[in-house]
Amino acid sequence: MRHKGVFITFEGSEGCGKSTQSRKLLEYLTAKGVASKLIREPGGVAISEKVRALLLDKSHTAMNKECETLLYMAARAQLVEEVVIPELEKGTVLICDRFLDSTVAYQGYGCGVDIATIKSIGLFATKGIQPDMTFFLDLDTEEGLRRRGGERDRIELRSVAYHHQVRVGYLDIAKKEPGRVLVIDGRKPIEENFNTIREAVERKLRA
Ligand code: TMP
Repeated sequence: MRHKGVFITFEGSEGCGKSTQSRKLLEYLTAKGVASKLIREPGGVAISEKVRALLLDKSHTAMNKECETLLYMAARAQLVEEVVIPELEKGTVLICDRFLDSTVAYQGYGCGVDIATIKSIGLFATKGIQPDMTFFLDLDTEEGLRRRGGERDRIELRSVAYHHQVRVGYLDIAKKEPGRVLVIDGRKPIEENFNTIREAVERKLRA
């Protein structure tokens, strides 16, 4: 589906630095006077934030992969309806910390949910909205988990092998869609990576 605004997503494993980069991009665009907004997934609106709490609750050890996949999609569907579509129609540069690629990587590659099924439920949840550009901040799995530190949620508590599969998934997505997904080396300094991201966004905005 075509839209007036620009939809930019940030993806990556735990501790990769995507939230820092997405905040820096928002600050940069806002300072330039570009109408922009930052949201996160799962969450971003009241209903989706409640679904996020369900998803990340450590006590929900019995949650199966189908339930998990559908809850991520439910949170997404509500965010798309309430924020993504209206903002893109207004012409906003909308930055989203995670989107459908996260479900492909975490539930598809990580949990073994069929990827074609994820994509078809994804189409239903997103009404066909796709990011115009995606930055995948790539980082070694153990380094990412170490950087993340602090208290871990239900997904972060999964094994290193699981998180490694998630990374493999992201690299695969990037390989399949090089026109949309730009791989950023998460080991590089924050400012260096921000420059790469800023330049790519500037090019997109001029196009
Ligand atoms: P966050 O830590 O980036 O806020 O994301 C919350 C967690 O949810 C993180 O561990 C990644 C996970 N996640 C999925 O497993 N599937 C998804 O579709 C999304 C959006 C996030």
